[in-house]
Amino acid sequence: MATYQRTGNEGASSATGRNRLLLIVLGILVLVAVVIAVAVPLSLHKRDTNMDKARKLLSEVPLVDGHNDWPWRMQDVYNNRLGQLNLAQDMRPLYNQSHTDIPRLREGMVGAQFWAAYVTCDAQYKDSIRRFLGQVDVIKRFVEKYPDVFQFVTTAEGIWDAFRAGKIGSLIGMEGGHGLDSSLATLRMFYDVGVRYMTVTHSCNTPWADEWHETGKEVPEHNGLTDFGKLVIKEMNRLGMLVDLSHVSFKTMHDALDVTQAPVIFSHSSAYALCNHTRNVPDDVLERMKQNKGVVMVNFYNDYINCGPNKTPTTNIRHVADHCDYIKRVAGEDYVGIGADYDGVKRVPIGLEDVSKYPNLLEELIVRGWTDDQIKKLLGLNLIRVFKKTEEVSRNLRRTMDPLDDLIPEQAVANETCRTDRI
Ligand SMILES: *[C@@H]1O[C@H](CO)[C@@H](O)[C@H](O)[C@H]1NC(C)=O
Ligand SMILES: *[C@@H]1O[C@H](CO)[C@@H](O)[C@H](O)[C@H]1NC(C)=O
Ligand SMILES: *[C@@H]1O[C@H](CO)[C@@H](O)[C@H](O)[C@H]1NC(C)=O
Repeated sequence: MATYQRTGNEGASSATGRNRLLLIVLGILVLVAVVIAVAVPLSLHKRDTNMDKARKLLSEVPLVDGHNDWPWRMQDVYNNRLGQLNLAQDMRPLYNQSHTDIPRLREGMVGAQFWAAYVTCDAQYKDSIRRFLGQVDVIKRFVEKYPDVFQFVTTAEGIWDAFRAGKIGSLIGMEGGHGLDSSLATLRMFYDVGVRYMTVTHSCNTPWADEWHETGKEVPEHNGLTDFGKLVIKEMNRLGMLVDLSHVSFKTMHDALDVTQAPVIFSHSSAYALCNHTRNVPDDVLERMKQNKGVVMVNFYNDYINCGPNKTPTTNIRHVADHCDYIKRVAGEDYVGIGADYDGVKRVPIGLEDVSKYPNLLEELIVRGWTDDQIKKLLGLNLIRVFKKTEEVSRNLRRTMDPLDDLIPEQAVANETCRTDRI
């Protein structure tokens, strides 16, 4: 009994202890639950707010991307047989993990796109003009095939018109001066069919301009632009065609900046100081943007944003944001834009896998303290300003200057075999 009593007493006191423990545990649990109930929605809310803000900005100002190679996929995989393609479906399986289709363009809230009319450099001196025209044609055809989605655009104001109509403004950028066959007449005709920028070279020298020189490949031949190359820039200024300096050598960049009367663009290049790839823009050229008032549109290609001594094993959004930050700091917030190069590259950063992912980049820039105004400039206002200025320069030049009818010196194209006797 005593034993029982004692045991009972002991049992009672240990029961009280258990109750106390239970109360404490319960108290802690309630506290944890309260903390979770308050903190998690708060943190989610914060995340949502930045993404909401990114999407709000994208709904206020058109995202104008400087370079997308979707038309090249159409050529490369389907010989431009658009009739065989449904661009409104998920095209990843069709195009070996392509980055672009209509649903993903809409998800990424793309406002306007410079579609690249691109043909390979081995077409130089052969059928480059026919092939470039084929790329212009396929862009025009897919724009016409989906009139609820795309609107063909050839002016700065047209970008706003398309945006207000809820369409993706579709512009043509010609990627590579090898499409001119060294002829200013050809340049004018490309303008007439709607081409609004020309990348001065692609990955080959033309008879009048040096390219960026991938290590181990071609070497510079002209020390930048030849005299004829300078005339090409002048005629582009007169026409109102944007001068695109992505893909040219550093010397060609400087020569073009010396001669151009309009602001230039880099439709898809990043900062050389962060990744020492010669496709990127060196600091002394970034500095010149302050006078020229052009725009450097950041390329997302892993190899252009994460390379050199500071290369990390994986590539992500932060690398791209670093390039945006850097160009904003060195050139200025008025001279930075986006030219992702989707479908022109094989490797893209984690988090920026395709055209649906642009809002992720904005979210990162918001976290880094970019103001709404700075983000709007990056998105499209800078490019639109450059385009408007180029149109103004053109209006003035067309009043005072005749179309240039200079010919490239005969010896510069002496080795071209596909020629009649006279150039
Ligand atoms: C698809 O792309 C990957 C990565 O670029 C490449 O290794 C592969 O060969 C491609 N497949 C086809 C069928 O083209
Ligand atoms: C970039 O930096 C790496 C590492 O320092 C170097 O090996 C490479 O040659 C550099 N590339 C260029 C184009 O300077
Ligand atoms: C023509 O080709 C020859 C042989 O490849 C070369 O030595 C010469 O420099 C070329 N001439 C011009 C004007 O490019």
